[in-house]
Amino acid sequence: MKIITVANQKGGTGKTTTAINLAAALARAEKNILLVDFDPQGNLATFLGFSPTPGAYNLLAAYITSLATLMRGDRGEQIRAFIRPTGREYLALLPGSAETATAQAFMLSGERDLNLIRQAVSEQFGRYDLVILDTAPSLGGILEMALWAADEVLIPVASETAGVEGARQTVATLKALSARGWHGHLTGILPTFFDDRTVERRESLQQLQQMFGALALAPIHETTAIRELPSNQMTIFEKAEEEKNNPYARRAAQEFSTLGKAILRG
Ligand SMILES: Nc1ncnc2c1ncn2[C@@H]1O[C@H](COP(=O)(O)OP(=O)(O)OP(=O)(O)O)[C@@H](O)[C@H]1O
Ligand SMILES: [Mg+2]
Repeated sequence: MKIITVANQKGGTGKTTTAINLAAALARAEKNILLVDFDPQGNLATFLGFSPTPGAYNLLAAYITSLATLMRGDRGEQIRAFIRPTGREYLALLPGSAETATAQAFMLSGERDLNLIRQAVSEQFGRYDLVILDTAPSLGGILEMALWAADEVLIPVASETAGVEGARQTVATLKALSARGWHGHLTGILPTFFDDRTVERRESLQQLQQMFGALALAPIHETTAIRELPSNQMTIFEKAEEEKNNPYARRAAQEFSTLGKAILRG
């Protein structure tokens, strides 16, 4: 089992969209995938059309000593019962909700808690090939724990001038974690909202490529086909299948499929 954390401290850079469609791409490659939402906004559930609770909060609560005493019986069995099948082969979901933020209030800050998500995910979800963690656009205990848990980190960055700075900040957080003994690595920077008709987007893509070299992955274009996914409650592959004559949906599906292949190559 490998943990991939999708993160960027900046909001609205395409993290949740990336987590879902990367998960779908890997599930199509017959990898057993669990998507976990550690963002209190709970967007994974809304984007896919599932109830947000129970979910990540219950996983965290089971591992926070002061709360775990509330659980009786086999906590592993209880935790695994929170996982939803998504109706898609090889793809399961542990959603998030506003409750996730309350879990943070019960945690002490410090080295012991830093490892909490890594311990919880590796103890409970070892049967999956890949566990993909979606995170909130903030600094804080839960994001740090989700990064610490990661074998690989993927940073979606909006192709705009301010995007480059967001990437730099998240990379700085990873460097700080490395100094504390983080075992994972940065897999890639994913340029999102790309539009080759706009000078600003082209220049910021070039800037990302210069700054990150081979770590800058092939970009995902901005397109209505992707924007509509949450209201359709579909993955891009389902949308491309349904709208066979929509070249933008086909291109977007191809882009996420390319991302999946890059992640599998490692
Ligand atoms: N390539 C794209 N083209 C068009 N719309 C997109 C694209 N990627 C994401 N979106 C839309 O932009 C919005 C923000 O995307 P998303 O929710 O994935 O970002 P996020 O980084 O997870 O945001 P947050 O920081 O709030 O968690 C969503 O409405 C999403 O549907
Ligand atoms: Mg999100």
